Amino acid sequence: MSTNIESHLIEKRVFKPAKEFSKKAQISNFADYKKLHAESVKSPEKFWAKEAATLKWTKKWTRVLDWKAPFAKWFVGGHLNASENCLDRHLEGPRRNKAAIIWEGEPGERRTLTYHQLHREVCVFANILKRNGVKSGDRVLIYMPLIPEAVIAMLGCARIGAVHSVVFGGFSSESIKDRILDSGATVVVTADGGYRRGQIVSLKQNVDHALQGVEQVRRVIVFRRTHLDIHIQEGRDVWWHREAEYVDAKCPPHPVDSEHPLFILYTSGSTGKPKGILHTTGGYLTGTASTTKYVFDLRENDVYWCTADVGWITGHSYLVYGPLANGATCVLYEGAPNWPEPDRFWKIIAEFGVTILYTAPTAIRAFMKWGDEWPKKHDLSSLRLLGTVGEPINPEAWMWYHKHIGEGRCPIVDTWWQTETGAIMISPLPGATPLKPGTATLPFFGIDAAIVDDKGKEVGPNEGGKLVIRKPWPAMLRSIYGDKPRYRKQYWSEVKGCYFTGDGARRDKDGYFWIVGRIDDVLNVAGHRLGTAEVESAIVSHHDVAEAAVVGRPDELKGQAVVAFVTLRSGYKASNELAEAIRRHVAHAIGPIAKPDDVRFAESLPKTRSGKIMRRLLKQIASGSAITGDTTTLEDFSVLTKLRASDE
Ligand code: WT7
Repeated sequence: MSTNIESHLIEKRVFKPAKEFSKKAQISNFADYKKLHAESVKSPEKFWAKEAATLKWTKKWTRVLDWKAPFAKWFVGGHLNASENCLDRHLEGPRRNKAAIIWEGEPGERRTLTYHQLHREVCVFANILKRNGVKSGDRVLIYMPLIPEAVIAMLGCARIGAVHSVVFGGFSSESIKDRILDSGATVVVTADGGYRRGQIVSLKQNVDHALQGVEQVRRVIVFRRTHLDIHIQEGRDVWWHREAEYVDAKCPPHPVDSEHPLFILYTSGSTGKPKGILHTTGGYLTGTASTTKYVFDLRENDVYWCTADVGWITGHSYLVYGPLANGATCVLYEGAPNWPEPDRFWKIIAEFGVTILYTAPTAIRAFMKWGDEWPKKHDLSSLRLLGTVGEPINPEAWMWYHKHIGEGRCPIVDTWWQTETGAIMISPLPGATPLKPGTATLPFFGIDAAIVDDKGKEVGPNEGGKLVIRKPWPAMLRSIYGDKPRYRKQYWSEVKGCYFTGDGARRDKDGYFWIVGRIDDVLNVAGHRLGTAEVESAIVSHHDVAEAAVVGRPDELKGQAVVAFVTLRSGYKASNELAEAIRRHVAHAIGPIAKPDDVRFAESLPKTRSGKIMRRLLKQIASGSAITGDTTTLEDFSVLTKLRASDE
């Protein structure tokens, strides 16, 4: 019996880059990409040194890489400052008065900060940190709504060498507390509240709860966003705007060693204690700046919008560090995509003239569900490039995005990467790579990705296996904060000599990478290993279906039975006939082996706040066992209750 993942869905559509797009692109044809990629994986250090040289270093490195597996040091001996690279560098030329951030709050107010203004605000905040005793290397926890001050707080930390740890504003007190204790943070930056779906989220109150019985935090800096009445604890809590009155706007960047920690970002993993992913300065900045330039094919007059929250790695790498290091104009929007109506994104794109949109498949499927009429109401002709990240995009959603948002004109970069990888690893280059809906295509320069079997041997075309990276890269995580053994075990012991991503994938005959899902989620039906992503993609290609999640339930006969949780598009009704039609549809698209044994209709699916389906919970529901383990990252708890009720 084969233990490798089988793949049955074959996508035949190919979209070549348009000539007009390629002409102006950084990399303008496929042959160039292939040649440059081949060279770059032969000598990655050479490629990365060239990219690093585009940054400002106050002291040049003496060695590009020091690799004592699994521990890497990049640009050894070099000194730089991340905030200087994102700000000061742009102040001397025409970018000085260019918009760095164009922000819209959920209630509708707007602010634009030029590079000069952003620099000034960051210096003020850095001085506030210093005034409150924060020193290089200290950990600062940031728990903010998506407002310019979230970015200012991050860059303010970087400016003085403090290490930020951003916690997504949707997380609970419990999550904040865990992260404070694990990171050893002594200062918290928050706001009185933030806006989400017309409501105020009481951020400061959550911090207050989190800090009960926690002695190590000696200062909480509070930004006034909503004027919500909050508790101020004398001696611990201070207002940002009051503090600003005591400091000036001069704060020279503090150069740090290339390997100085820049931030810790916690990723839940599906079980167990959250992992503090540690990223350092020189390599991370090199990786994010370089990928932003090539993958988003950034041009000076682009208006770039990454819709992620700063609480996620996507927000760190492609909302803050990558684009600002490139001097880009970035849109920032505080609220929900369907507030007050499902066309908020399209309205923002039309009004700000957004040219690049980077969002998640889960958002795209929500837009599909809400209906084509919403994007149709707005002029989206400013868009020239689209991107996705976070999970495999099913071809159906890709086609919808391409047609209704890109109007057939915009390439789509499907970017595969992880919190741990820091920067994009597998992605098309929009002027060069022929696209196929549903695949992240090919590795970025300097990235040596492969698919291997259980013994670590590379598999052939269309054979499934484990996705690994065979050489270190600059933006890679350096460790799990405070837990080197776990770092080694989690990422470097599954496949000898390689970084193990945890994802299952296959490469097609053109070498394109198709991610079939997390290895832990792979189904094993009568000896066949099937990727959840493929089965889900087949279900979603049924006309009436909006979203699907597939899990295995123990089955005496087959090992596992396939259970599909399905939500329908607006206006469609659940019925036994429809369930049967969906089962037939999957049998037709993939084969009888993948046919769901059970189709369960649901109003919505349990997701993490970054949009990932919590399959662990669905597995428990599917097998009728009690819900256990961590549910604090669940977006909407009522979903669970409803799913269980529908089970009875
Ligand atoms: C996991 C990483 C990277 C920022 C957001 C998520 C899945 C991510 C893709 C893609 C297929 C993808 C993988 C990966 N994933 N992007 N384009 N195609 N799968 O970061 O929370 O660290 O999750 O997300 O399974 O391992 P993360």
